[in-house]
Amino acid sequence: MSTIGILAALQEEIATLLTAMGPDVVTRRIGQRVYHEGQLSGRRCVLVLARIGKVAAAATAVTLIREFGVTVVVFTGLAGAVADHVRVGDVVVAQTLLQHDLDARPLFPRYEVPLLGRSYFDADAQLATLLAQCANDYLGSDYAEEIVSATRDAFGVADPKVHSGTIISGDCFVCDTSAVGLLRSALPDALCVEMEGAAVAQICYEYGVPCGVLRTISDRADSTADIDFNTFLAQVARFYSAGILRRFLMN
Ligand code: ADE
Repeated sequence: MSTIGILAALQEEIATLLTAMGPDVVTRRIGQRVYHEGQLSGRRCVLVLARIGKVAAAATAVTLIREFGVTVVVFTGLAGAVADHVRVGDVVVAQTLLQHDLDARPLFPRYEVPLLGRSYFDADAQLATLLAQCANDYLGSDYAEEIVSATRDAFGVADPKVHSGTIISGDCFVCDTSAVGLLRSALPDALCVEMEGAAVAQICYEYGVPCGVLRTISDRADSTADIDFNTFLAQVARFYSAGILRRFLMN
């Protein structure tokens, strides 16, 4: 039977799923993280708060794989928009991921992970298709109506869309119009930026475990990104990930 490892960077991003796991959860503390083992929508899951950044995410992914034997890893959380057509409230599902802050030039090409010989790490194609389908279903459902309209009111955005493509990760919160502009020109295929996904994808590649990354856009990675991020996190973040992942787990 498969066991799904679900990780996120912030407590708000796992809170709803943790409640949904109910009282029959076994917790184990390893490396200053608390792993919650139980069932979600009838599937065996291990849910954990990884904390922020690539090191934290990679360490947590390794523990999920080696200590808990998870057969699938899904990272869920927020991201800043990079592509012009990606808006706050949209959902991005990774097809492939890259570490935008990795640069060992002139020894290795920019973005390449030294000695692995690659820059991009692919999400599992089937998982990505299913996550995108579940995101579309959730956003179009009655359950999401209140959240979508709260997001629309708070951010003045149109109805949310689901995008699939490239997610870029790095150990910095991008909060500057020129910095996000540089990312956009250096990596024109990037849809959004966050701080963990590509590290988890690299670990999953190294261990041969299918990986999925699901992100809701909280900000535009510009000069008000911090304010938008905090508003999104406080008001609606907990509903998006949980709504989409609960559908995903039913499949
Ligand atoms: N996660 C959410 N918004 C982000 C941003 N602007 N930069 C990096 N990670 C993020």
